[in-house]
Amino acid sequence: MIQFNTEQPVAVSLAATQEIISQIRADAMGGWFELPETYNKEELASIKSAAAKIQSDSKFLVCIGIGGSYLGHRALIEALGSLPETEAKTKILYAGNSLSPLAFDKLLKTLGDADFSINVISKSGTTTEPAVAFRFLKEKLIQKYGSDGARARIYATTDANRGALHDEALQEKYTRFVVPDNIGGRYSVFSAVGLLPLAVAGIDIDNLLAGAAAEYHDTFDHQLANAAAIKYAATRAELAASRHDVEILATFEPQLQYFEEWWKQLFGESEGKQNQGIFPASVVYTTDLHSLGQYLQEGRRNIFETMLELEQAPATDFAVPSDSQNLDGLNYLAGKNLSFINQNALDATIVAHRSGGIPVLEIKAPDLSARSLGALVYFFELSCAISAKLQGVNPFDQPGVEAYKTNMFMRLGKPGF
Ligand code: PA5
Repeated sequence: MIQFNTEQPVAVSLAATQEIISQIRADAMGGWFELPETYNKEELASIKSAAAKIQSDSKFLVCIGIGGSYLGHRALIEALGSLPETEAKTKILYAGNSLSPLAFDKLLKTLGDADFSINVISKSGTTTEPAVAFRFLKEKLIQKYGSDGARARIYATTDANRGALHDEALQEKYTRFVVPDNIGGRYSVFSAVGLLPLAVAGIDIDNLLAGAAAEYHDTFDHQLANAAAIKYAATRAELAASRHDVEILATFEPQLQYFEEWWKQLFGESEGKQNQGIFPASVVYTTDLHSLGQYLQEGRRNIFETMLELEQAPATDFAVPSDSQNLDGLNYLAGKNLSFINQNALDATIVAHRSGGIPVLEIKAPDLSARSLGALVYFFELSCAISAKLQGVNPFDQPGVEAYKTNMFMRLGKPGF
């Protein structure tokens, strides 16, 4: 379903790839690998019924979480949430992904007096940013609905057995969803972490999972060396070995900006360790052709670019009007659709950047739909895990994240630090 093209010569070692795939499948954190196929149908039904309740009693659902506990669903909601087929009365808001008082003030102003519910998402149940936001918002819920009313509007997605959030959810009888032990935050989009907010936002989670499952079969039911995810991972590893240590993910669709944010976290946290890894950066074109475009064309040549493309133009389109005076000289575009002009800008950029010495890789999803983006998420999860393994690092841990926490806790006087 997902296509990968490159002009770079890429040699895929089938034996090495097979070995890596078996390691990922057997890894204690490899629970995401077959998740789209093996998803617990009972849990899916309870997610849908919780989503229906939230849609019936809340204008807003505030999703509290940080990193892998929020970027995946936000990526998909920003990409798909405004499409005509994704009609939901309940809007998703986000909290707990920073410690900024201004961001919190903005959230409170948006909430106003409207009815709302909370989905607090934290696998560990102890991460500071979401825990602080939860305390504030829980207080607001209690003021508005009383203790019992508040409890009925709190949905906790966390570990099955441990952590402060787990203990509180159990004691207070919040509706609970589980982040499976064998799935890490940034690989958790297809668990309750992503699926509850997505269902509330009106996104077809069955189609999303079906797209991911289709990509799984596309990859493993055919010749492994030809699989798009494997070729992408192998190309990245070869580029890294030839001192291309920055990858720019580029899209010509602004609705995919948050998808790029999710991608950066996925690859950054999975690969950036033991002095290894390709630094993941992103641009949205054509906006950034008037910003970072100059650097890409003529700056340092340690960069490669991955174009994230959609094969099918969006259903919504606009033809450039004709103008009898033609003072702006644009009549050569009269009658042409915006999507057609955008596609030409994309093709032109690839040619320009290649001629400037930038290796350009192309990743194509069929369209902007739940099914296609489900496939794309699975494609990137798989290629990221393989790519990290090819570079000799563990894709599923993030030991470096602790350093800032320890220093912060010392300064803040947290007991034990
Ligand atoms: O990908 C990851 O594992 C991290 O980004 C975590 O999702 C993030 O640190 C939040 O952790 P938690 O869900 O435990 O609050």
